Amino acid sequence: MMPYPDGFSFPCIHMEETDSTSLCLARLCTEQEVREMTVVTADHQTAGRGQRGNSWESGEGENLLFSTVLYPTFLSAKEQFRLSQVISLAVKETLDVYAEDFSVKWPNDIFWKEKKICGMLLENDLTGIQINRCIAGIGININQEEFHSPAPNPVSLRQITGKKEDLSDVLKQVMERIGMYYELLKSGKGEWIDARYQRSLFRNTGFHDFQDQQGIFTAMVTGIEPGGRLILTDDTGRERRYAFKEVSYLY
Ligand code: BTN
Repeated sequence: MMPYPDGFSFPCIHMEETDSTSLCLARLCTEQEVREMTVVTADHQTAGRGQRGNSWESGEGENLLFSTVLYPTFLSAKEQFRLSQVISLAVKETLDVYAEDFSVKWPNDIFWKEKKICGMLLENDLTGIQINRCIAGIGININQEEFHSPAPNPVSLRQITGKKEDLSDVLKQVMERIGMYYELLKSGKGEWIDARYQRSLFRNTGFHDFQDQQGIFTAMVTGIEPGGRLILTDDTGRERRYAFKEVSYLY
């Protein structure tokens, strides 16, 4: 394991090519003891994995593709959403350094205006009621100039700022912020993180159109439950609560 250059304080393994940085890190964890917040990055993934069983496409060497491991044994299984909050805020606030208008689209996509710049896949290993290990796989579009995959509305940092960015600078900042928020979580500052997460949410003011199994409706985001369910209040004043995948935003 080699330390990453330029003052990067987390163990980091860089691969030119792997199937998936998350799979690679998970394999490493089964073979040896891996220090918390070790990072695996890759220029290219042959089987990059996305949410809902989708694949994750990325131009070779153009974007940040990485995974890191946490051992959040201080959290109960019911508190898994805390990890989404920590990582979403770390990515969103790093991107805020480069431009305006980033938000967290519940539960853990990062958007710039109406376009997706980052996706993440958190894979938690639960033992009983505890979270034994979390492998967080994060893909941030940094320097890609054109997107050809069917992914809806992708955007890269370069398309936003007009400038090419150094991948390792962005990685360093994201990891430092993950470290900071993770420490806050450990020291019981969950409510502070909740408030910050809520302020960072996509479309967190006014009424918008949503769709659930019953159809389309208009509602306002009024909160997030500690377990991560989205709380909406519709235009008739009725409160509705949704787990991930039970509701979608309409464009
Ligand atoms: C999504 O579908 O929004 C989640 C995408 C997560 C992609 C990243 S890229 C690095 C890491 N390795 C993977 O195989 N997936 C994640």
